[in-house]
Amino acid sequence: MKNATRSTIVVSFIIIGISAILFSDALAQRSSRSRGRGRSESQLEKPPVPIDDNEKKILSILDDIRATQSYRNVPPQDGRFLRITAQGMNAKNVVEIGTSTGYSGIWFGMALQKTGGRLTTYEIDAQRAATARANFKRAGMADIITLVEGDAHEQVKKLKDPIDILFLDADKEGYIDYLNKLLPLVRPGGLVIAHNINASMADPEYMKAITTNPKLETIVRSGVSLTLKK
Ligand SMILES: C[S@@+](CC[C@H](N)C(=O)[O-])C[C@H]1O[C@@H](n2cnc3c(N)ncnc32)[C@H](O)[C@@H]1O
Repeated sequence: MKNATRSTIVVSFIIIGISAILFSDALAQRSSRSRGRGRSESQLEKPPVPIDDNEKKILSILDDIRATQSYRNVPPQDGRFLRITAQGMNAKNVVEIGTSTGYSGIWFGMALQKTGGRLTTYEIDAQRAATARANFKRAGMADIITLVEGDAHEQVKKLKDPIDILFLDADKEGYIDYLNKLLPLVRPGGLVIAHNINASMADPEYMKAITTNPKLETIVRSGVSLTLKK
């Protein structure tokens, strides 16, 4: 083999070797970045750190409800989302359909204690309503939370005041009726938040209503729809 040909072969091998090293390095960096993205959601979030004794007491009541009185309550991360949203937008009037034992109501209550706002929450089951009332009382929120016992489809007709946040977490097939009855009361800039919005539970009629109306902007994340009234 001529010297020139041998040199060409050696140079080609060096180029291929360097390219392979650079390519595998780029792949490694990319995969470590994507691993980092995964970690950001599951590991970067930490439990709430109470600001004072009142918040500490409320957080322990929330833990107790989950441990001993749980009935289809939202998970803690959704409760925290509701609190942050309500406090962040300085909500004064929150309406919740589906109280259960009062778990999500107390997350809202934490926000409303700071904003000077009120929650009206609806529950059809007498036993869960009684449990929720007792929980609101022990959380020191009896004065800012009104629990209406009965069928919310009928009871909400009595509402008149502008709503900052409407939270739907009761009979899924009823969401469209709640929306039709209460959207006119949701103020511009107000939110409609609905729970259990996933492929198996979301009512197509409700989804159509919140995703095709030009006056609304809706996103869905982790089973929760967030709708802004523009
Ligand atoms: C998923 S649970 C609510 C959980 C609650 N938001 C929480 O996270 O703590 C749904 C509740 O809605 C109530 N519910 C169902 N249909 C209702 C109706 N038509 N009127 C009022 N409450 C209703 C059920 O009895 C049940 O307790």
